[in-house]
Amino acid sequence: MKTVLLLCILIAVSAENEPEKPECDGIHVRGKFHKKEVLGRGLNRPYQLGLLRHSHKIFFSFNVGSDEEDTFKIGFIEKNHTSHQVLEDVENGFALAVDDENHVAYFGGSSGIYRYHDHPDNKEHKVTKILHDHNIWDMFYKKQLYFITFPKQHLYKLDVHKDGSKPERVKDIHEEIYQFAIDGDNDKFITNETGLFRIKSGSKLRVHYKGETVFRAIEINNKEEAFFSGKHCISVADKKKHELEEIAHVKNIFGLAFDHEDNIIYSDPHEIIRLLPAECEKKPPK
Ligand SMILES: *[C@@H]1O[C@H](CO)[C@@H](O)[C@H](O)[C@H]1NC(C)=O
Ligand SMILES: *[C@@H]1O[C@H](CO)[C@@H](O)[C@H](O)[C@H]1NC(C)=O
Repeated sequence: MKTVLLLCILIAVSAENEPEKPECDGIHVRGKFHKKEVLGRGLNRPYQLGLLRHSHKIFFSFNVGSDEEDTFKIGFIEKNHTSHQVLEDVENGFALAVDDENHVAYFGGSSGIYRYHDHPDNKEHKVTKILHDHNIWDMFYKKQLYFITFPKQHLYKLDVHKDGSKPERVKDIHEEIYQFAIDGDNDKFITNETGLFRIKSGSKLRVHYKGETVFRAIEINNKEEAFFSGKHCISVADKKKHELEEIAHVKNIFGLAFDHEDNIIYSDPHEIIRLLPAECEKKPPK
């Protein structure tokens, strides 16, 4: 009897103390509230993202085709603009990677790779085709340019700092892969149909990371930590437990990038959003 009464009191107390949770218009990252800043809107499935930080340009690939047949172009948004510009020189541009240090962005399309060089002072930019006859699925930059071909899903590397260099198949990665990245520990991450694998620096062993199996992007932040965008989440790798740790739940996420302060920028089927730490703002009444 006593225990029943005590239980009732406990339940009553906890119900009373339960604060009314306000509905916040934002997203929690590692348990902390972040508000959404809309950087681009009205886009049709902006997929891959990349930033040139010195000129405050956000690049993205997006769909300009019909719902039945995808055609992609590369667009970019300048700081303080929400409307975008399109780089018409890049044929069916889908993949992108950025060498921020050298102010260069690379775009991959159905017929090769292009280099975009920025001149922030005179507001000019130059797009040059640097590789022909390759259909590019995804790209990653670290010292050199790594790219994955379509439809074979083979990984190649290209020494973009030497004129006339030829792409080379990365021998260590025999798998057909969807994404590739190298983090600050020189660990490699690959994804394929089975899911995510980490290849520790100096090792050939593939360690499977449990959890999500469908990935849209792997991106490295300024501290050279790897972040993974799954179907509805952003995760980081827990290298002790060999599993992914979800740090944010984001519905229908595609691309991922980081600004100079490592704020997360992501894309969903229509928008490009930056997440900024903030106090919870109540959703306006509908
Ligand atoms: C963007 O807008 C802010 C505030 O209005 C301003 O301080 C800044 O100079 C602008 N930046 C550019 C690149 O136009
Ligand atoms: C993905 O790669 C892993 C590691 O090499 C391999 O074990 C697995 O069979 C691959 N999955 C597919 C579907 O090829």
